[in-house]
Amino acid sequence: METPDDTVLIAGSASQLLAVRIARVLGIGLVPVSFKLFPDGELYIRFLSPINGRNVIIVQSTPPPQNTNLLELFFLINTAVEQGAEKVIAVVPYFAYARQDKEFLPGEAVSGRYVCRMLKHCGADMVVTVNIHNRRIFEGTGMQFMDLNAMPLIAEHFKKASLRNPMVLAPDEGAVEEGTLVSKILGCPFAFLKKERDKYTGEIVTEEKRIEVKGRDVLIIDDIISTGGTMINAVSMVARQSAGDIYVACVHPLLMGEARLKILSAGAKEIIGTDSVPSDVSFISLASLIAGALKS
Ligand code: R5P
Repeated sequence: METPDDTVLIAGSASQLLAVRIARVLGIGLVPVSFKLFPDGELYIRFLSPINGRNVIIVQSTPPPQNTNLLELFFLINTAVEQGAEKVIAVVPYFAYARQDKEFLPGEAVSGRYVCRMLKHCGADMVVTVNIHNRRIFEGTGMQFMDLNAMPLIAEHFKKASLRNPMVLAPDEGAVEEGTLVSKILGCPFAFLKKERDKYTGEIVTEEKRIEVKGRDVLIIDDIISTGGTMINAVSMVARQSAGDIYVACVHPLLMGEARLKILSAGAKEIIGTDSVPSDVSFISLASLIAGALKS
């Protein structure tokens, strides 16, 4: 990024608040955009001020309804290109379909990779993501990307929470890297669980494990909470083993259906997420992390 005058920001409809926060930290202006839905459900987008050869940062997370949010992102990128943007950076904190990063069963669409190809095809020069489920989806797509790590922000949040004799727990092996980092920042022990997801039914089974949690406050960390199944299993397991207060944190709080209620009912004291996905638990803002990366 060059000077603030060379760059403008566009707020996608799924990330209005986060986009304004990022623009404020960067000290750059927002391009007003008119978003409408035609009576038959088609999207209408119009930029209400010119781009004039400037760099454009588009901020659009892609939580549910992910297909609509993705299509809007594709339109925003392509419109910026057609309106003469010098460079287009797509900031997509929650990247839909990133969990479909390979063919788990023969014949499956590797949809995460396809989304990357579409972003490139629409004209994005770079994509900025936050704790994307698996960076592998960018391989072979030619899409330049930067994946940011929100775990230090989560750790700093809990540093202030004065946890009693804390322990960090990863609810599955996929969260070991994140959990290890948070435990290092908090200076406390770390443990992880093993989880299997049935490839046909999606049912989650977490292996029973004895962990030294008695009397300790436990912080369970994951990248995404969707149905809450993964967290419910982890929370119930440490609750059965007489943990102290149980906190649950994630970067992308999708919290589908009754997930929040079920996690709390399983024994969690609090759920914390970031504004990657706007929700009732999005207490940690990614604005400074993303703005810092864009500046560099
Ligand atoms: C996948 O393994 C992810 O890291 C999360 O653990 C998963 O997406 C959480 O999904 P759910 O809340 O539906 O268990």
